[in-house]
Amino acid sequence: MITVPVGTKDILPSERPAWDYICNIIHDTFKAYGFGEIRTPVFEATELFSRGVGDTTDVVEKQMYTFEDKGGRSLTLRPEGTAGVVRSYIENGMASLPQPVKIFYDMPIYRYEKKQKGRYREFTQCGVELFGAAGANADVEVIAMVNTILTRLGISDIQLVINSIGCPNCRPQYNDMLKSYFSDNEDKLCDTCKGRLQRNPLRILDCKSHDCNCLAENCPKITDHLCPECAEHFEQVKAGLDALGIKYVVDPYVVRGLDYYSKTVFEFISTGIGSQGAVCAGGRYDGLVEILGGAHTPAVGFAMGIERMLLHMESCGLLDNLSAPKPRLYIAAMGQQAVMEAERIAYSLRTKGVYVETDIMNRSFKAQFKYADKIGAEYTIALGDNELASGTVNLKRMSDGTVQPVKLCNVVDMF
Ligand code: HAM
Repeated sequence: MITVPVGTKDILPSERPAWDYICNIIHDTFKAYGFGEIRTPVFEATELFSRGVGDTTDVVEKQMYTFEDKGGRSLTLRPEGTAGVVRSYIENGMASLPQPVKIFYDMPIYRYEKKQKGRYREFTQCGVELFGAAGANADVEVIAMVNTILTRLGISDIQLVINSIGCPNCRPQYNDMLKSYFSDNEDKLCDTCKGRLQRNPLRILDCKSHDCNCLAENCPKITDHLCPECAEHFEQVKAGLDALGIKYVVDPYVVRGLDYYSKTVFEFISTGIGSQGAVCAGGRYDGLVEILGGAHTPAVGFAMGIERMLLHMESCGLLDNLSAPKPRLYIAAMGQQAVMEAERIAYSLRTKGVYVETDIMNRSFKAQFKYADKIGAEYTIALGDNELASGTVNLKRMSDGTVQPVKLCNVVDMF
């Protein structure tokens, strides 16, 4: 018996209505904010992620599915969506389009992580990337978009946490402060963070180890050491959120696990789904387009983890009333001619886009009606030699048993 690989799962037809419900609202909201969809390849050059995401991040150091193809190229299954979208933005000359350029995606993502509730090796992100707008109102707009999605899905108990992690002007000084703070306590750091201390001390704030967390509690806070421009930007983001009535908490420990961020970072956290509570996360990344070979381009975006959104909505009972689509009509048929007529009517209705079922199991009339009831057909008709001869069938509404005689030639027009 071959089983599904660790950390992956099948999405069964019975689960799909919930996915469709969530993803349709997300896509619809993205479109209402003016974003157009992109599809990028599942695999990209490995260097895109080591350069773009940062080679001291957990994602690049530990979690990538990297392989060599038959032509000797190092390729990686995308461990996040932003780097690929930025590559495409540069490669397709989108800098010459009217700005801002607003792009959304819905894509599978691959990370070799320890499997646990809400953490998978293949998962789905719906996200956006907005290029060309440097002002704080762009940050506010993408955060507001997440709020719009949550509101439309009926979700009210997810907390928005924001922070600013500065820019290349102020972060080096802050990194020096962190280096000197953590160097004094180096023996208490986990092995990974000892390695990060000189290369990328900000990552220590992101570490999951208890000892590193305790040590970080008294470290200097980035929000106290922002340059005037970053401080002003952060104030404007907060003011913009206040103006829209969007509630948030400022948390100076939110630094995000990817290196490309500057200024605003944010996470939307659910407390009801266990330790993997971030259902959506993002921020500003003004340096990434340049790092990947384009012109300096301010940018901001986020990605939503759909499996975690589902877990959250299930835990709140928000998906209870969703079910598989039910047929509008079930055509029960008996006898060769009647079966052919049933197929002909079903074919015409399906061509009109109406969901119809008819028997392909050679069941008895009784068994066919039992099945029609089980799958929740809205109407049924029975078609046998008598009906063919008279040219009339009884159309039965299953909810109340009402029966209406209908000419066989009119059935298709009834739906
Ligand atoms: P991220 O925080 O790494 O950011 O991932 C975004 C979201 O993907 C998380 O908040 C979570 O909901 C989901 N997620 C992450 N890892 C897993 C996993 N192993 N299993 C299930 N869900 C997971 C990014 O990927 C950035 N590219 C977001 C972004 C877009 N920033 C700017 N633009």
